[in-house]
Parts: sequence; C-alpha cells; structure tokens
Amino acid sequence: MTDMDASPAAAAIPGPNGPAAGEAAGSLEATLEGLLEVESFDPPAGFVRRRDVEADRAAADADPVAFWADRARELLTWDKPFTQVLDDSNPPFYTWFADGELNLSANCLDRHVAAGRGARVAFHWRGEEGERRDVTYADLLADTQRLANGLTSLGVRAGDVVGIFLPMIPEVVVAMLACARIGAVHNVVFGGFAPSAVRERMEVSDARVLITVDGARRKGRRAEVKAAVDAELGDLPALERIIVVRGPGQNAAEVPMTPGRDVWFDELLAAADPDCPPVPLPAEHPLFILYSSGSTAKPKGILHTTAGYLLGATHTHGAVFDLDPDTDVYWCSADVGWITGHSYIVYGPLSNGATSVMYEGAPDYPDHDIWWRIVEEYRVTVFYTAPTAIRSCIKWGPQYPARHDLSSLRVLGTVGEPINPKAWLWYHLVIGGGRCPIVDTWWQTETGSVLISPLAGATATKPGSATRPLPAISAELRTEDGEPVTEGTGILVITKPWPSMLRTLYKDDERFVETYFSRFGPSTYVVGDAARLDADGYFWIIGRIDDVINVSGHRLSTAEVESAIVAHEAVAEAAVVAQPDEQTGQAIVAFVTLTGHRAGDDATEAQLREHVAHRIGKLARPKRIVWADDLPKTRSGKIMRRLLRDVAAGRELGDVTTLRDPAVMAVIAERVRATP
Ligand code: PRX
Repeated sequence: MTDMDASPAAAAIPGPNGPAAGEAAGSLEATLEGLLEVESFDPPAGFVRRRDVEADRAAADADPVAFWADRARELLTWDKPFTQVLDDSNPPFYTWFADGELNLSANCLDRHVAAGRGARVAFHWRGEEGERRDVTYADLLADTQRLANGLTSLGVRAGDVVGIFLPMIPEVVVAMLACARIGAVHNVVFGGFAPSAVRERMEVSDARVLITVDGARRKGRRAEVKAAVDAELGDLPALERIIVVRGPGQNAAEVPMTPGRDVWFDELLAAADPDCPPVPLPAEHPLFILYSSGSTAKPKGILHTTAGYLLGATHTHGAVFDLDPDTDVYWCSADVGWITGHSYIVYGPLSNGATSVMYEGAPDYPDHDIWWRIVEEYRVTVFYTAPTAIRSCIKWGPQYPARHDLSSLRVLGTVGEPINPKAWLWYHLVIGGGRCPIVDTWWQTETGSVLISPLAGATATKPGSATRPLPAISAELRTEDGEPVTEGTGILVITKPWPSMLRTLYKDDERFVETYFSRFGPSTYVVGDAARLDADGYFWIIGRIDDVINVSGHRLSTAEVESAIVAHEAVAEAAVVAQPDEQTGQAIVAFVTLTGHRAGDDATEAQLREHVAHRIGKLARPKRIVWADDLPKTRSGKIMRRLLRDVAAGRELGDVTTLRDPAVMAVIAERVRATP
C-alpha cells in the first residue's frame, strides 16, 4: 500500500483559495493523472474523528448480536424495552427486538423536541426558484400530528398502505412520518416515475390513500401531476382517497378535484386535531414498502419493518459520516423516492436530530453552480451524492465549484454505483479540497442501510473500493459453486442477519426466498452483485449479476423495459441490455423487431422512447435503439442477451453455434456499427 497525505494535492485545487479555474485546468488534469497512481489514501491528516470506531469493531467482532442490542438501547427510545434480540429460528424470516415497542415518528421528532431541540432546523429547504424555508423539529412534529389525525379521519388504520408521490418538498417527510406515527405502511414512488408506474405500485400494494401534489416543476417547466394521476389511477378500486399538496409555485385554480375523494393537504391539516400521541408499535410492525427492480418485469415490493430498519439508518448515518448533530450541516442530494432518500434524508438524519439541506431542483438549474452555491450558503459539512452526479460536474468543469467557498465541507460520500477512480479523485480534490475523507457506501434497497463502506476519517480509502464491511456485517464472496473466495472475484453474499434487512417481498414470501436465499441456503443472503476482494480485504463492487441495469445509480429491470417496449403496437419483439456508458455508468440499449417486417425510422424511434417514458419514466428511455430483423435465439427460443451485451459493448462475439440461426448476429453486428 502506498499512503499519501492529502496536503500536497490540495495545493493544486482550483477554488476560492487556489489558482483561478481557467489557469488551473491544465494542472488539475495533470494532478488527477498523477494521483491515479496512488493506490491508497490515509485519512486526511487534519481530520479529527468525533466517534470512536475501534471500540465498535471490537465489540461487534466479539458478539455481533450483543453489539446490535447495545446500539438499539443506546440510539433508540423504546416505549417497551425488548428482551429478545435476534430470532433466527426460521431463516430467512428473521426478527429483531420482536417483543419491544416504540414509535418511529417519536424517535425522529418528539424525543428531540422534548429534549429542548424543537427550534433546531431539521431541513433548510431550497426551492428550485431559490425559495427558502427552514423547517424545525417542532414544525415537523406539529404537521405530522395533524396529518396523522387527518389520515385517521379518512379511515386509515395501522397496517393500511398509503401511497406517496411527491416532489422534494418538506411535505413528503411529513407524509412519511405521519404514516409511521399511526402504523400505516408508506409506499413512496420516485417523483420521476410516470403515473402508470405509480398505478402499478398502488395496485399491487392495495393502497387506500395516495398523497400527491397539484403540479411539479423541473427546470422551469411544469408537470400537471394531479391531472395525470387522475387519468391513470382514477379507476383503482382500492384507492379511496387522494390527498393533494399545493406544491411550491403552483396555481391551484387549474387542478381537478373529485368531491368526496380528493382533499387538499392544507385543508386536511387545518381541520385536524393538533394532538396525536404516538402509538407504541411492535418492533416488527411493517414500516414501508419500496418497489425496486428485479429480474422480472414485476417490480419487487421490498418490505422494511420498524425498529431494525430505524436502528440501521440511525447507527450508520452517525458512524459512517462521523456525524455530530450539534455542529454538522448534512446534505444528501438523492430523491426521497429512493431508498437513499428514505434512510439518509428522512429516517437516519431525523432520528439523529441532525440539520439537513433539502433541495427541490436539478443540479444544473438555474446554473451549474447551484449545488455549490447551496453548500456555501448553508455551510454544509457533510455531502452525499452519486458518482453519476460527480461525472456530470466533471463534464461541466471545475469553474462552477470554484465560484464558491466550499471550506465548510468535512466529509464526502457516494452511493449507487461503482465510482471510477478519476471521478473519486476529482471529488476529493475539487470538491473536498483534499481535506475530506470520501465514504464510498455500498448498500441496496434490500439492506436498508449501508453495509460496506469506509468510516469517515478512520478507514484508509482506495479510489473505487467501498473498502470493508461495517462492524457486525459479514460480507463474503463465493464461487458459483458456493465455495468461499478469500481473494479474487466472486458473488457477494451476507452470511449473518442484520437489523435493517428486508423482511420479505410484500405479500410474496416465496419470491423473497427464491430471489435472495435459494442459491446458497436460507441463511446466506445473495446480494445480486459480483465483487472483487483484494489482498487487504477490501471489496471492489463490479456490478449486478442479474438482469438489472444501473443507469445513473437507478435500478431498472431489463424485463420491465422490454415489456414496456413490446406494449407498443408497432413492436413485435424486443431485447434490452446494458452497455457501459461514461456518463451514466450503464446505458440501456434496445434491440427491436417491428411488426410486419417494417424497417425502423427516426420517427418510430422517437415514438418508442416517448412510449417508454410514459410507461415507466424518462430514466428508462433507451439511449440506443437498434433495429433488428430477428433476435439471437437458442433452439428452444430463449433470447441470448449475452451476445447482445457483447455486441453493444463492442466486444468480440462469443460462441454463436447454439443459435437457431447463427447468421442473425452478423446482421445485428452490422446494424450496431451503423447505429451510433
Ligand atoms: O449494484 C449495486 C449498486 O446499486 C445496487 C442497489 O441499488 P438500489 O437498491 O437501487 O440502491 C441504491 C442505493 C443504495 C447494488 O446492488 N450499488 C449501490 N451502491 C454502490 C453500488 N455499486 C458500487 N458501489 C456502491 N457504493
């Protein structure tokens, strides 16, 4: 291992204290190139860690279950203390702290207000048009109680599913916490998904109520969300009520409201009783469902429960980012509609009593420096984003961060996809000024909280590696046959249960067992990623081994995109694969055969893209559509996606002799060359 102190690199940083961006551009490139040689970075010399980690590691190694029990007592406030910790008598159906009772919203709000921290800002909210709203813990508690009563008045009971389809506004947090307060199960759908994807997620979860918005804005454009929701979901039998938030900058007069079904969020709150005491709920009470993509077209309803999930989010948010709620200003740039938003915008930060930034808009509107303007304005100390966003910033250039004073930053994080070393180094130098440890956090919707990651300032980091499993997490690699891999490449598995693990797939225990626990037995969680383990015991995540594509850190299923494309009347057949992409990590390529042997043209291509955006969301639009007269199939009719992946990535084609018609691939390869 070569170690290096960050300070020499820091000298080359363009920023308020460095040379002007224009002059520095050449030297930045040279510095980055030079640093690519450096394998390992010690924690920056000046970084003072606030939390002890060595003690955690020792305790967790000695007895992981006792470690979690201690953390659960220390970090959470219980109405009824648990006596049972882990029940592993029926793997993979584990339970944690099962005889304890607590209320999650009380852990996120009431306990901080009771301790005299009600005036503390929970969220510095920034609207896309520059609006500012500071929401305190007391504000959140007041609104959460009213909405909880409002939901009850609409007939929502513990265990009922409430859908949430909202932009990045404080009401989304209130909506989630109000559900948690009364034991309703929330099902948040990312605001970038199309209403038809919302419909599917509401339908399969039998949602009784949906909380949405009149309209949303994105880079100055307005989307009529409520009207679109009505058109897609109006006839869902289980959906009894729709609660409509007046979004920032919207004009309520134009919004269709159905009497008896639809109610304005603010009117519901105004009419509700202000007091709603938190209900003590069993530790294993379901907290939320979050749909995520799997190997089939049907999204998986990942179910998390109350105490274990909250413990995972609370503990890791503190330990990984070395967060001090009294002094840090924390900002996670994800959307609340993804697991990152659930765990690291809402539950972890609020349970820890942190002050966060919440930003409604895009990173390049009104200009490409908006993120850095916000960091400077609120003196953000901990910043957590995705590699794809960093790559966009690199493309825009260091002159944008250089306009702002980023000296408040002390910890940087990434999540969602492997980070390429060059992006890591750019983040380290240009954003972090060489002073900030970077935590590359590996985890999943299923894991609930971070499992493999450096601990800020305590772990030596290697650009591109998520480093080591957190204390009490048993991550290992296996060969295809299940043999342990101690160094080299293998299938990533977790061999011991952890509190924030998913409990099942909503109403589908069988698929839960089949997806995650059938390969190596019921107590080995198969993650779905391949990884490499190096001689220092560091993990390097390679990517998915199933039919999941990771576009800009967003999980999409090839089957889901295929079924959307095939639903178009002009399409006979389609196969979707991933190709490597410099900007988004992976990009979607669709091989499409049209009906009646029609040849594809630009207009059809545009139509198909639009069609996919309408069925799933813009993020699922194929980057590249290749017209194919036929698809490569085995004699039994199975499409050989491996060959399509190879041809899309420009690799040599493997064995084609098992194809029914080996000539098909030659035609496709020619088309790929002709389709940039
Ligand atoms: O492939 C891994 C990748 O994202 C997948 C999980 O996606 P999702 O459930 O949507 O959650 C994303 C946010 C937690 C994983 O199976 N992934 C996530 N974090 C990393 C990563 N790949 C490499 N490095 C990471 N830090």
